Amino acid sequence: MTMKNEKSVRIAVFASGNGSNFEAIVQAALSGRIDARVVLLVCDKPGAFVNERAARLGVETFAFRPKDYVSKEAFEWEIARLLDEHEVDLVCLAGYMRIIGPTLLGRYGGKIINIHPSLLPAFRGAHAIEQAFEYGVKVYGVSIHYVDDTLDGGKIIAQKAFEYYGDDIREVESMIHAIEHELYIDTVNKLIREKKQ
Ligand code: GRF
Repeated sequence: MTMKNEKSVRIAVFASGNGSNFEAIVQAALSGRIDARVVLLVCDKPGAFVNERAARLGVETFAFRPKDYVSKEAFEWEIARLLDEHEVDLVCLAGYMRIIGPTLLGRYGGKIINIHPSLLPAFRGAHAIEQAFEYGVKVYGVSIHYVDDTLDGGKIIAQKAFEYYGDDIREVESMIHAIEHELYIDTVNKLIREKKQ
């Protein structure tokens, strides 16, 4: 991530669903907990709840239907154009259910990070919490990593683990989400501070 020292870091969040991590990042920016502004939400599901959060929080949104484009390359060019226009320094994926393709990686590689609800490299993919629970793991966790062209496979930036010996998956989910919101903000803060030194 390269950025100009004199201004707040400009963040775009990509999300496809509920958007609790999106909201946590926006609130942290609004309260000054991170020296950043969330300048854009990119959402590939116009009906997703994250769009309502963005409207309430006043965050500009690009909500699109992938099937309205001829190819992934075509919608990624549109997204890249918007990221350029908004002078985005950092892209935070937060429940964005698509692999980032070569078009976006070519222009924004090294500036895109993702949050994943497992201790990577264990339990990659869409149903990480359920998989870990079914496996019977006793140490759960959250990872934040740089995004490359593999599924949940880029270099890890931060992880947080906890032990759980109960048998209630809802409890595991809520513990994971609470950790996610804190860890994402702490990690974004750390990246901003490192780059400003
Ligand atoms: C989170 O568990 C995140 O780790 C995963 O997708 C979920 C998104 O949750 N990548 P939310 O939409 O931010 O509430």
